[in-house]
Amino acid sequence: MSNRMWGGRFGSGPAEIMQEINASIDFDKRLADQDIRGSLAHAEMLVATGILSAEDGVAIRTGLETVRGEIERGDFSFSRDLEDIHMNVESRLRDLIGPAAGRLHTARSRNDQVATDMKLWTRDAVDALDGQFADLQLALAEKAAAFADAVMPGFTHLQSAQPVTFGHHLLAYVEMLGRDRGRFADARRRLNECPLGAAALAGTSFPIDRRRTAAALGFDRPTANSLDSVSDRDFVLEALAAAAIAAVHLSRFAEEVVLWTTPQFAFVRLSDAFTTGSSIMPQKRNPDAAELVRGKTGRILGALQGLLVVLKGLPLAYGKDMQEDKEGAFDALHTLSLCIAATAGMVRDMEPDCDAMRRWAGAGYATATDLADWLVRVLGLPFRDAHHVTGRLVGAASARAVGLEELTLAEMQAVEPRISPEVFSVLGVDASVRSRTSEGGTAPEQVRRQANLWLERLREGSRASGGAGGLA
Ligand code: ARG
Repeated sequence: MSNRMWGGRFGSGPAEIMQEINASIDFDKRLADQDIRGSLAHAEMLVATGILSAEDGVAIRTGLETVRGEIERGDFSFSRDLEDIHMNVESRLRDLIGPAAGRLHTARSRNDQVATDMKLWTRDAVDALDGQFADLQLALAEKAAAFADAVMPGFTHLQSAQPVTFGHHLLAYVEMLGRDRGRFADARRRLNECPLGAAALAGTSFPIDRRRTAAALGFDRPTANSLDSVSDRDFVLEALAAAAIAAVHLSRFAEEVVLWTTPQFAFVRLSDAFTTGSSIMPQKRNPDAAELVRGKTGRILGALQGLLVVLKGLPLAYGKDMQEDKEGAFDALHTLSLCIAATAGMVRDMEPDCDAMRRWAGAGYATATDLADWLVRVLGLPFRDAHHVTGRLVGAASARAVGLEELTLAEMQAVEPRISPEVFSVLGVDASVRSRTSEGGTAPEQVRRQANLWLERLREGSRASGGAGGLA
C-alpha cells in the first residue's frame, strides 16, 4: 500500500529495507511535545490570518491536545509506516477529527517543521542543562568555601609543584563550568529564530504571519532566509560543541577523583553511595561513577564529530541526511545531563582527608619557589640567582633525603652565607599558601572571597531559574 500521507503518485509501498532505513519514529518520538507545540502555534496563526476557518482551528487544537494526552499517558501507538513523529501526529489527528486535519499542513512542510521541533528541543535541553550546571557549581563552591584553607599539593606535569588549597582547586572547575554555561547561553541566543514558514525551502504563497508563530513559540524573530532555515543545523552543532567542551571538563575532574580516591593518593573518600565493590577483591572500593563520567565523554565528543561529518558535503537546502542530527544530539545532551548530575552527587558526597593532603602538600620540595622568593625579597638576589641557590639547596636536601625545612642553618649558609633563621618561616606549606594573595591566587582569604562571590551569584540565580532537574 502506498503512503497515506504522501503516496498520491506512488503505486505501491516501500521495500521493507527502505522503511527500515527511512523511518525515524523510533527516535524522533522524543520530539512529540515540541511537534505539537509547533502545530498549535501554526494552526492558531492560520486562523488569525484567515487561511483556516475558526471552526477547523478549534477542531485541530482540540485534536492536538487529545494526541498530546495520549502520548503523555503512553496510550499512543507509534507506527513505522508513518515514518516520523510529524506524520504520526498528523495521522492520529485525522483519525480523531477527520479531513480538517489535512488542512493543518497548509503553508508548511516537514522541513521547516522538523527544524522548528529540533530548535525547540535543543532550547529546552540547553535550559535544563543550565540549571544543572548551576547546581554543580553550587556543590563545588560550597565545598570550596568549607575547605578554603585545606592545603594540598598543586601539580604541574602531575609532579608536585606548589602547595595550593583544596578550595582553590575546586573553584577552578567552577570557573570552567561558568564558561560552559556562557557557551550554551551564546548558542541559545543565536538559535532563537523561528524557521516555521520557510516551508519546504522557498517560503509559501499563503499570506502567513511568521512573526506571530515566532512569538507564540518564544522565538525572538523569524529566520531571515528560507533556504538557510531548513538547511541550518548550526544550533545542534553549537550545542554539541558546548557539550563536548563541558564533557571534557567533567572528564578531567572525574580523572582527578579517580586519582584522589586511590589508596596511594587518598586525598578524598567517596561513600558507598558513589562507589562499587569488586566481585573478587574484597578490599576494593571503585569510583565507577567518576570512571563513567570520564568514559561517557567519548560518545559526546563522537556526536559532535558525527554531525559535522553528516553536514559537510550537503548542498542546500534540506537533505534526508539531516535526519541523522537526532540520535547523536539526544544521546549526547542526555548523557551530559546524567554526567553533570553524577558529578554533583560525587562532589556533595566526597570527604577530603585534610591530613593526607597536608602530608603531601610539602613533598617534592613544593615550597622551593617560596624559598627563592624569600631570597629575592629579603636578600635582594635577582630571581635567576635565587633560583640557582634554591636549586643547590634542594640538591643538598635531596642528597640527605630530607625536606627543605629539615636542612640546618649551617647547611643553608654553606650555599648562601647571608641566609638567616627567618627563612624557616616560608618553608612551611601554610605560610606558602597564605603568601599567595595576588588576585586569583591560592591564599585562603582569596579562596574564601571567590567562593563567597560565586555562592552569592549562584544562590541569586537559582531563585530566578528552574533549578537542577535533568533533561526530560
Ligand atoms: N524525519 C525527517 C527529519 O528528521 C523530517 C523531515 C522530512 N522531510 C522530508 N522532506 N522528507 O529530518
